[in-house]
Amino acid sequence: MALVPSYIKQLTAYKAGKSVDQARRELGLESFVKMASNENPLGPSPKAIDAMNSVMKNMHYYPEASGYHLRDALAKKYNVMIDNVILGAGSEGVMSTIMRTFLLTDDELISAKNSFIGFKVLANASGRKAHWLPMKNYRYDLKAIGEKITDYTKIIYLANPDNPMGTYITRSEFDEFYTHVPERCLIILDEAYYEFAKDKPDYPDSMTYRYDNVITLRTFSKAYGLAGARIGYGLAHKNLIENLIKVKVPFEPSLPAQAAGLGALMDQSHLENTLKVTQDGISFLEKNLSMMNIKTVPSATNFITTLWDSEEGAKLITEKLFRQGYIVRQLNAFGWPDAIRISVGTMEQNRGIIKKLKEILKEN
Ligand SMILES: Cc1ncc(COP(=O)(O)O)c(C=O)c1O
Repeated sequence: MALVPSYIKQLTAYKAGKSVDQARRELGLESFVKMASNENPLGPSPKAIDAMNSVMKNMHYYPEASGYHLRDALAKKYNVMIDNVILGAGSEGVMSTIMRTFLLTDDELISAKNSFIGFKVLANASGRKAHWLPMKNYRYDLKAIGEKITDYTKIIYLANPDNPMGTYITRSEFDEFYTHVPERCLIILDEAYYEFAKDKPDYPDSMTYRYDNVITLRTFSKAYGLAGARIGYGLAHKNLIENLIKVKVPFEPSLPAQAAGLGALMDQSHLENTLKVTQDGISFLEKNLSMMNIKTVPSATNFITTLWDSEEGAKLITEKLFRQGYIVRQLNAFGWPDAIRISVGTMEQNRGIIKKLKEILKEN
């Protein structure tokens, strides 16, 4: 169709991991364990659920466009001003607003080739030139990214920790890299997995030092168990936020999403439980996968990426697990076809998947 721009025609739509409902339809199995999309196996906080229920009777009203209460709560949490906070329908919602706010026609983008697909989709949909640089040892190659910066570079996207590899950029690496970035270049620091990584001593929590050309993105989708509500936020200099707010879809995020975020922030014990379940799960999975001689990439997140000998091998394991009721994600869409990402589950789910993997490997 002539009315569709060629850069949109060339796009491939984002293909999410299989949902449980989809899996049921495909296989007719009653129960599935979903360990494919890095969701919280404990579910949302009861306080978030109560908060959502409490606004249901007001669903005929638009939410307050400024998102005042949740922005105020986040500002207090991070010791910044409300003017430093923007909300979005997930952190991807904020990412989308960023892409619509700052890019001039000739501006270019730089990121890693095989990192988070969500950014890649937005970058390609923007029609701007993007440079996708290979990762090194499953990590961002900041040296290569720094060397690629030109007068045209406007946005650099870094997921820290990264999805789908689970690795992170250290504080000293980021500090060194930052010296190569001109002020007119915006760095998007996507910290969707921040809560899982924050206690690593060399993890650079970007809120402890603020740069005017860095926007931090965080989300309620992972550690707070609210992926379905679509609620995330950005933290940055007020001049950036002020302009982002001009471009943002006015009533995003929805009324229940904002309420859920506020409820979740009030439930510290749910967050702590989640972090404990995740840490125990990572240790358990790492230990057992290693005993089975399955290679893994060290993870600072709520998932573990496993490495197999071939694309075919990874496909077969993914399919066999699926037929046994476990949904995991082969990473071909991310450019790692011989890798499978396994999200941490409850301890029962972690034990279950290891048991199935052992059986499958015995068969092969
Ligand atoms: C690195 C990264 N950024 C952003 C997101 C999306 O988060 P949200 O649900 O807040 O849009 C994800 C989700 O998988 C992710 O892995």
